[in-house]
Amino acid sequence: MKILVVGGGGREHALIMKLAESSKTDKIFCVPGNGGISRYAECYPNVSATDINGVVSIAKEVQADLVVVAPDDPLVLGMVDALNKEGFKTFGPNKAGAIIEGSKVFSKELMKKYNIPTAKYEVFSNSQDALEYIKKENTYPTVIKADGLALGKGVIIAEDFSQAEDGIKSIMEDKIFGESGANVVIEEFLTGPEVSVLCFTDGKTIKPMVSSMDHKRALDGDKGLNTGGMGTVAPNPYYTKDIANECMEKIFLPTIEAMQKEGRTFKGCLYFGLMITPNGAKVIEYNCRFGDPETQVVLPLLDTDLVDIMLAIYDNTLDTIDVKWKDACASCVVMASGGYPKSYPKGLEITGLDDKGQTDNVFVYHAGTKYQDGKFLTNGGRVLGVTAIGDTLQSALDTSYKAVKTIHWDNVHYRNDIGKKALAVKG
Ligand code: AMP
Ligand code: GLY
Repeated sequence: MKILVVGGGGREHALIMKLAESSKTDKIFCVPGNGGISRYAECYPNVSATDINGVVSIAKEVQADLVVVAPDDPLVLGMVDALNKEGFKTFGPNKAGAIIEGSKVFSKELMKKYNIPTAKYEVFSNSQDALEYIKKENTYPTVIKADGLALGKGVIIAEDFSQAEDGIKSIMEDKIFGESGANVVIEEFLTGPEVSVLCFTDGKTIKPMVSSMDHKRALDGDKGLNTGGMGTVAPNPYYTKDIANECMEKIFLPTIEAMQKEGRTFKGCLYFGLMITPNGAKVIEYNCRFGDPETQVVLPLLDTDLVDIMLAIYDNTLDTIDVKWKDACASCVVMASGGYPKSYPKGLEITGLDDKGQTDNVFVYHAGTKYQDGKFLTNGGRVLGVTAIGDTLQSALDTSYKAVKTIHWDNVHYRNDIGKKALAVKG
């Protein structure tokens, strides 16, 4: 089969490495791809992942047998619908399904209507009403969320009125996220450990993947700015069997059934961002796609053929597939450009990587790199995801960090404490 993958980060690199393991895969193409991906797939660096017409015409040109749309924005824009209209098999939700991530107002209303546990909330479409509500409630911290996609930066946790006021004004009046901030959700602040659970679903059957834990802040000790994710471990020790059963009954199945009832059957990877609160597991957010860098620790643990799973989802036969996982742990340490998530330089030479991205028994997924004249150069904020598998989380982490120490570029930044919280739980 010829498989076209849309996207160009570490998540897409992890998807491509798993797809490449399938005996059904003959050739992989990627739009736009990156330096590391270019060693395994034919890339189209000049076509953007959100260019629907561009992707449809490449799918035609290469006669793709399957198109995997990985990032949120093309899914929310309806890339899958456009590809299906042209007769292509796809992996990823259509536009009607992707709204579960594309609009927080939609997802909160869905959860309220179908009694799916989540933080209490109110929706506002003008800043005056939002500010009055915050004054009246007078409870901090409070959580302010832009309705639409905002590159993972649309959530503000305000510690006092002045932070809340700044947040609301910047989202609704200054429109820092454009039209994504036309409406805001203001919600109750929840506490408890966070767990990411990615699930395969064809809309009627849902099969959770191994759970994982992201590390969103830039600096050790969960300090510094929020990022796309500085590292992950899997499985997440907070996600016990009892909690998994509770989530299946109260969250996962009710969500796919709710989407069906709304005429928005969701097919693809549905990502549940959960918080295990003292009152049970609650949904913090839905994503309509694989997480990044969660995918880098989840997919290496998958033992079942990913192409078979994706085709079964397309054909609505996921119930016939036995999705199997390795009994092991995985860790991914993200190496980022100095300055990320603010401004950072590009084009710095990376040393210590072999051509295929492998050193010893780790795999280095590329997130923001370029391959030029036989060298890898930095080309983004998050640059590499150094991933290892081990019998224990400690051994996986030791392997990841040992490899991290052999890779260099000027001003490289990474966290030294990925997995520390998870290790403390396992005790
Ligand atoms: P998101 O961009 O939706 O992933 O949210 C970013 C982070 O904000 C989450 O990972 C949580 O740590 C935090 N967060 C979001 N909503 C809440 C909430 N209601 N209570 C506490 N923390 C929250
Ligand atoms: N790592 C969080 C996300 O993919 O949304």
